[in-house]
Amino acid sequence: MKRVLAIESSCDETSASILEGTTVLSNIIKSQIETHARYGGVVPELAAAGHLYAIRSVVEHSLSQANTTLDKIDAVAVTNKPGLAGALLVGLCFAKSIAVALKKPLIGVDHLEGHIYSACIEHKVEFPFICLTVSGGHTALYLVHDFRTYERIGHTMDDACGEAFDKVAKLLHLPYPGGPVIEKLAASVNFEDYFNYPRGKKDTFLFSFSGLKTAVLYHLIEIGAYSQLQKRFLLADDSPLKAQVASSMLVCIGDMLAAKIDRALLAYPQAKSVCFVGGVACNKYLRARLTETATNHSKPLYYPSLQYCTDNAAMIGFVGQHKLAHNEISSYRLDVLE
Ligand code: KG4
Ligand code: ZN
Repeated sequence: MKRVLAIESSCDETSASILEGTTVLSNIIKSQIETHARYGGVVPELAAAGHLYAIRSVVEHSLSQANTTLDKIDAVAVTNKPGLAGALLVGLCFAKSIAVALKKPLIGVDHLEGHIYSACIEHKVEFPFICLTVSGGHTALYLVHDFRTYERIGHTMDDACGEAFDKVAKLLHLPYPGGPVIEKLAASVNFEDYFNYPRGKKDTFLFSFSGLKTAVLYHLIEIGAYSQLQKRFLLADDSPLKAQVASSMLVCIGDMLAAKIDRALLAYPQAKSVCFVGGVACNKYLRARLTETATNHSKPLYYPSLQYCTDNAAMIGFVGQHKLAHNEISSYRLDVLE
């Protein structure tokens, strides 16, 4: 069985993984959340510098945890798109250097393909399946035919779903990333819907989250909880309003995502299952909501364990192994975003 070293550096996680076949031997993730938290979002230049600082030790750690060495690696898989150019460059240059030095194949992997198949690492998912990818940078719906082919049937027209969590968190003066803290606050009030924010259009596969963010903003301004002039939350940090807004927002997103899955399963009855992937798929409330929707159609819903939801190299290596098996090797001249 072939052994692949995979590297991921498209946004704010430096990650390296070793896979033997499709078995993950190690998956090391160094998150930069602390670096970016004070800015309320990812700063591209700091992300690139952070990868440069971390990449060598992350790769070494992944090798030692897998109890292997570079000379036992058969190929190097690396994310080369999409993402922040400077961040991607760090991972790609590092991967390229190793591949060239070892005279081993280099395999460029699309980050979104990594997410699409991420639930297949741990589950035997039957094809074709509907895949909902929801992260901080992307929101899309796919009909996945097999490991080689898939089609995008829906995408966001504005913000990504995770971005909506992060932006609403910022309005409420909550830390970045917003998703986990909004989930925690919503759980504290039992996921009650206090404010019935707008759900957007139902009769389309297109997503839109900027309307929800604006609705929350106007609501906060209207009740005197936010100053647009000073761009800050005006109530006390322990105000109960925070949990009420967080919960209403999460329930709203739950309804929006469930409606898309429902529509997709009606439009594509050949789909045998549903995968819910990406950073937002860490959310237990949304997992339960979407499982309920899929169950209503008598279909199973799969989501990856937490380490494979947020950005990670294991999902890149998993796709890399499939490409290697089909001899889809990249040139040593591989560039980012190409
Ligand atoms: O996949 P990911 O690590 O990075 C991108 O590729 O963008 O996703 C990060 C996003 C952030 O926007 C974060 O707020 C969101 O995933 N997220 C969550 C949760 N955990 C992370 N959103 C909702 N609920 C969560 N528990
Ligand atoms: Zn991602």
